[in-house]
Amino acid sequence: MKRVDDFRLKLGRKELVPIVIGGMGVDISTASLALEAARLGGIGHISDAMVNTVTDRRFDTKYVKEKLKQYKFNVANPDKSVVQFDLGQLEEATKLHVGKTMEAKRGEGLIFVNCMEKLTMNAPKETLRVRLRAALDAGVDGITLAAGLHLGSFALIEDHPRFRDAKLGIIVSSLRALQLFLRKTARSNRLPDYVVVEGPLAGGHLGFGMDWSEYDLATIVAEIRQYLDAEGLAIPLIPAGGIFTGSDAVSFLENGAAAVQVATRFTVTNECGLPEDVKQEYFKATEDRIEVNQISPTGYPMRMLSNSPAIGDGIRPNCEAYGYLLDANGHCSYVTSYNREVAAHPGAKRVSVVDKTCLCTQMRNFDLWTCGHYTYRLKDTTRKLEDGSYQMLTAEHVFRDYQFSADNRIALPE
Ligand SMILES: Cc1cc2nc3c(=O)[nH]c(=O)nc-3n(C[C@H](O)[C@H](O)[C@H](O)COP(=O)(O)O)c2cc1C
Repeated sequence: MKRVDDFRLKLGRKELVPIVIGGMGVDISTASLALEAARLGGIGHISDAMVNTVTDRRFDTKYVKEKLKQYKFNVANPDKSVVQFDLGQLEEATKLHVGKTMEAKRGEGLIFVNCMEKLTMNAPKETLRVRLRAALDAGVDGITLAAGLHLGSFALIEDHPRFRDAKLGIIVSSLRALQLFLRKTARSNRLPDYVVVEGPLAGGHLGFGMDWSEYDLATIVAEIRQYLDAEGLAIPLIPAGGIFTGSDAVSFLENGAAAVQVATRFTVTNECGLPEDVKQEYFKATEDRIEVNQISPTGYPMRMLSNSPAIGDGIRPNCEAYGYLLDANGHCSYVTSYNREVAAHPGAKRVSVVDKTCLCTQMRNFDLWTCGHYTYRLKDTTRKLEDGSYQMLTAEHVFRDYQFSADNRIALPE
């Protein structure tokens, strides 16, 4: 019976434990979590989602406060098109977040940044260019391009000195998305170093419609594998979404996957950025509490706990401080929904908005509890304590359980 440790992920000259901890914004996959993955010989991700906010929290900078001060005059205005990110500050914040993490890296593993293209930040191309280049400048080992097709992302960095040395990967949920990306980036004469194939059971945003349950990760991986083989392209494939045990991982590795990307099991570790009481909500979750809905203004379905405080909340949009979802014209569908409710309830102190959520504010406050499909199994990965709460795990424990377990077993903590 094989274990994950019988396999290795080869990336260039590197040989790694084939376990990748996926990016979880906003600072749910913290630097501490990513650093543990790297120390243990795998790959960890930090995320650059809402990087100014994250940097303020980590390093006591004042980027959000300064931005709010600059745009305070616009708070009551439904039109958010004036709100712009200061590109110099965005660069600084990214370099701090990424650079300090890289300085702290120990061990043989790697640290990547998860970069969500869908954070359009009122100037999609300009802000994305700054985010990608600053991460490369700060010495990140690699970048995983997530949520969005990223058809132009390689072009934004192809003149960067690290374009060919940093590892660059993409997350796709279909063969079609990968084909589009490869066609569009052929000109840069550089293939992605790895492709994460994310299936319908993953956490966060999904690359599927509301018919997500009709898809199956193993089938999509096999389709992509077949295509790459036919084209003679040797790109490592990394399946993700619902890989809950070491044995689940082994079955993908035996079928030719180069590694697996996992996340949900790490949401209940000390190193994960969620507050303690929220981690207990993840432990307590039952299957009927896990829903996929369309409240994210990105337009992608998103999986979350149905008792997330964000659902139905009608908080005033805070684009002057955050504004990560504003498109090039200053639109965010939450702002539209919020304004509709305010107009329909004149004089109301507080409105409820059910169709969309203020993703920035809710993720920043850890009030939107996005999670993977198998979150309801987390309670089986630990012990219940006398006071009724669940024992928190260490990232090392979960990582090693993936690495060394067999027979679908899950090791409980000491
Ligand atoms: C709490 C949470 C937040 C996530 N946030 C992101 C994100 O910001 N960007 C992203 O590309 N994927 C995100 N994901 C997806 C993971 O990186 C990963 O690919 C997926 O969840 C793996 O499946 P698993 O959770 O079943 O192990 C998130 C997942 C979780 C559980």
